[in-house]
Amino acid sequence: MIIAVDGPAASGKGTIARALATHYGLPHLDTGLLYRAVGLTLLRAGGDPESEADAAAATTFPDSVLADPELRTEATGALASRVSAHAAVRAALMARQRAFAHQPGGAVLDGRDIGTVIAPEAGAKLYVTASPRVRAERRAREMERMGQTPDIPAMEAEIMARDARDMGRDNAPLAQAEDADLLDTSELSIDEAIQRAIALVDARLKRHRQE
Ligand code: CDP
Repeated sequence: MIIAVDGPAASGKGTIARALATHYGLPHLDTGLLYRAVGLTLLRAGGDPESEADAAAATTFPDSVLADPELRTEATGALASRVSAHAAVRAALMARQRAFAHQPGGAVLDGRDIGTVIAPEAGAKLYVTASPRVRAERRAREMERMGQTPDIPAMEAEIMARDARDMGRDNAPLAQAEDADLLDTSELSIDEAIQRAIALVDARLKRHRQE
């Protein structure tokens, strides 16, 4: 069984995808990390994020980059959003994601285009979202835990800019797949969001069994 979890920045999709993977005993891939690794590799090589050739060259990053703590910063997230708009970058990362999705037994993948492009055949698809304000507050709490002092209105503006870039691009824009279940986590605790996600996936599985 393939479970696709898509949604905008800080919507809770990563936490939900990890919890689903544990619940169903499936391996999990955070595909955003791949795009973040491209952004960071390009930055370190002194490349230009707007250059498709520079961004494509950065897709051959070594696996060690995936463990780099720099990957988790907001600056790397914004850079990932810029390099991910290039068709050559998306094409270079596609085979790796599809192979992960199609491993025997299935997998959980989270990202922006899992249900629409990487695994349209997924047995269950969730589109996880929350209001920009709630997402900015969540990111702020994460930053506080890392000892940083966040500026919430600036983070909300950054989140909205990233949404606009991810939803407005020509290549695999962020969008809810037609057959995805919507999960708005604005008013939900983490536990409630996870329980709701499990209920939605169980309902999909039941429907597939009846088909
Ligand atoms: O954790 P957060 O939601 O902030 O970001 P992420 O999932 O790590 O993704 C960082 C950026 O990579 C996004 O803003 C997207 O532009 C891009 N991305 C993508 O284009 N396709 C994916 N499957 C995953 C991420």
